Amino acid sequence: MRTTKFFDSLEELNIFAAGKIVEISNASIHSRGNFTITLAGGSTPKSLYQLLSNDEYKNKIDWSEVFFFFGDERNVLPGDAESNFRMANENLFTTLEISDKNIFRWQTEFKNAEITAVNYELTISKFYEDNNKSIVTMNDCDCPRFDLILLGMGADGHTASLFPFTEALNETEKITAANRVEKFDTTRLTLTFPVINDARNVIFLVKGADKAEALYEVLEGNFQPEKYPAQAVKPVEGNLLWLIDTEAARLLK
Ligand code: 6PG
Repeated sequence: MRTTKFFDSLEELNIFAAGKIVEISNASIHSRGNFTITLAGGSTPKSLYQLLSNDEYKNKIDWSEVFFFFGDERNVLPGDAESNFRMANENLFTTLEISDKNIFRWQTEFKNAEITAVNYELTISKFYEDNNKSIVTMNDCDCPRFDLILLGMGADGHTASLFPFTEALNETEKITAANRVEKFDTTRLTLTFPVINDARNVIFLVKGADKAEALYEVLEGNFQPEKYPAQAVKPVEGNLLWLIDTEAARLLK
């Protein structure tokens, strides 16, 4: 099921998003003993992470039962300014004093992106086996089922590091990929659509006028997921929630 909500400001969008994260995390912890979330990178989620780590939300979630993963990562070291882990660490983990045992980042120290991607798949699978979490066989993928996957969307319609016309868009078995992105002359690390679409909940956080054109194509245009990868996010048995500010929604009917 897809739900779309619009907000006049990022602040209002973040307050709603934080409320949903409290709701989903408490329901997950209540019914399954813990809450697995994959964080989005980029700039949009930074203020949401800051909000979640302030006093108002600190006590609304049992953070010791929250296990953090990353939807994607740049192939840089964790202390690099470009690192999605670093952004989350500075704006969420440090303030909340999240234990290292609750954080599972892409181990980019391998430098070889393919090895990092395989290592991350093993890391996720081990966590799910050790905590007898649900692994669902869907199509060709034995996919771990995340309770919540946070995603952003680029002005080109990419999400995570699933960029237009790149190889990882076609992955149907593996849950992680080292994805060559020619336009940035780099290889990015990303979860793949099988595991994203196996999530119980997916929330997109989209703000800014520069996203308006891609957002119109993704939500109201023809189905062309190679060109607009965010269109391929369709949770099989999960809730899909788009949280959008009015600038990004400018072209929507
Ligand atoms: C990344 C993200 C990426 C991001 C979008 C939107 O590593 O950059 O995972 O998918 O969510 O590019 O980025 P902004 O929020 O900065 O616009």
